[in-house]
Amino acid sequence: MPVEKTTLEQIRKAAEFISSRISHTSECRRPKFGLVLGSGLGSFADQLTHKVSIGFEEIPHFPVSTVEGHEGRMVIGDYKGVVLLVLQGRFHYYEGYSMDEVTFPIRCMRYMNIPNLIVTNAAGSVDENYEPGDLMLIRDHIKFHGDSPLRGPNIDEFGPRFNDMSDPYTGEIRELAKKCADTLGIFLKEGVYYYFAGPSYETASEVRAINILGANAVGMSTVPEVIVGAHGGMKVMGLSCITNMATGISGKPVRHGDVIRAGETVKDKFIRLVSSIILEWDKL
Ligand code: HPA
Repeated sequence: MPVEKTTLEQIRKAAEFISSRISHTSECRRPKFGLVLGSGLGSFADQLTHKVSIGFEEIPHFPVSTVEGHEGRMVIGDYKGVVLLVLQGRFHYYEGYSMDEVTFPIRCMRYMNIPNLIVTNAAGSVDENYEPGDLMLIRDHIKFHGDSPLRGPNIDEFGPRFNDMSDPYTGEIRELAKKCADTLGIFLKEGVYYYFAGPSYETASEVRAINILGANAVGMSTVPEVIVGAHGGMKVMGLSCITNMATGISGKPVRHGDVIRAGETVKDKFIRLVSSIILEWDKL
C-alpha cells in the first residue's frame, strides 16, 4: 500500500496560515529567500528586523523538531531590506519523519512563491584537505538512499514527475557565492555532499567508499530539501560547515557534542558570508 502523502491542500493550509501571520505587511514584504539553518547556525535569524516568529507547532500540518541544538521556529523578517523566511531547525529522516514531512517547509515556501532557497548544515569532512571550521559550498550531491520526497503521486503544480537534477545547486549562485567569499577574505571550499540517512555516523569503510565515489563531505540533511526545491524550480544554494573529520579520516571518533561546538565556532564567519550572498543575490 502506498504511504500517505502530503496533499496540495495541506500545503495550501500551512502556507496560507504563514501568509496570514505576515499579512499586516505589504505585498512587497513577501519573502524572497527561504533559509534552512543547520546545527548551531540558527542565530542568523537574530540579524533580522521587523520579525514575526511562528512556532512550528502553530502551523497546520507542520511537523515539530526534536533534536538538541535545533530550535523549532520560523522567523520572517528583514535583512537590510530583503525579506527572509528563516527556519530555525529542520526535520530529519532519522528522527522518524517521512521524506514528505522533512520537506514540507520547502513545499510551503514554494507555494508562497519564494524563488530562492539557502540550505545549510553541519557536515563531516571526507576530504583530508579540509579541516573543522572550513565552509564548503555544495557543488552537487550524491544520494544513493532509496527513499525520495518525490516518491508517490507527483504534485504537478510544483514540477514534473521526472525532474531534472543537472544543476540543483544553481551554478550562477555558486559563482556569486565564491565572489562574495573572495571579497570578504573567507576561504570557501567547493565540493560534493554525500547524504546518509543516519542516525549512526558512518563507518570508516563507508567513508573510504564515498571518498572514492567523489564525496568531499557527509551529512544527514539538506538533500531531501534540495530535491524538493529543485523540483519546484527554486534557485538553490547549499553551504556546509565542516564540523569534524568523518570517521577514519583523523582516527578520532565522531561525537555529536563536538559537532555542535564546532558549529558555534564558525558561526560568525558563516553569518558574514551568508549575509553578503543574500544582498548580492537579491540584486540579480
Ligand atoms: N557524518 C554525518 N553527519 C554529520 C557529520 C558526520 O561526520 N558531522 C556533522 N554531521
